Amino acid sequence: MPTYTLDINGKRTEIEAAAEMPLLWALRDKAGLTGTKYGCGIGQCGACTVHIDGAPVRSCLLPISAVDGSSITTIEGLASNEQLHVLQQVWIDQDVAQCGYCQAGQIMSAAALLKQKPKPTDQDIDNAMSGNYCRCGTYIRIRKAIHTAASFYNASTATGEKDAEVQA
Ligand code: FES
Ligand code: FES
Repeated sequence: MPTYTLDINGKRTEIEAAAEMPLLWALRDKAGLTGTKYGCGIGQCGACTVHIDGAPVRSCLLPISAVDGSSITTIEGLASNEQLHVLQQVWIDQDVAQCGYCQAGQIMSAAALLKQKPKPTDQDIDNAMSGNYCRCGTYIRIRKAIHTAASFYNASTATGEKDAEVQA
């Protein structure tokens, strides 16, 4: 079986896998990163969202052979120096999750949005989050939490995965 080299959450990681193995399963079963969830498996629900080279992607559809050498961030890599990403902190503070299953994907999509648009409008949020489904219907809380996180987000340092800060 071929070996692929990825940067996962800032760590060089070698994964031996069949070329067609979806990135989602490489992350979960090979790298032990189970925060990224399997929902539909056909790119429709957003539960499996991770960042590749900073952009949100559905990991259930991408074969590992297509992302060899890429830099990947999962929900486990969003916090830095033991400090939660501002979105993770707001999600906790505002009790956004219900069952929680979709929420890693929701947060990854929201993090990509804030990097692109540090002060998103309702429409920006709806557009960016439209591919992330929540069977528990937490959409209103998600939108509110993104606005709250945006009010703390330090746009001037929004250059990397770990640059969001809660301002004291
Ligand atoms: S599991 Fe990937 S989009 Fe649903
Ligand atoms: S919180 Fe249950 S599916 Fe979204």
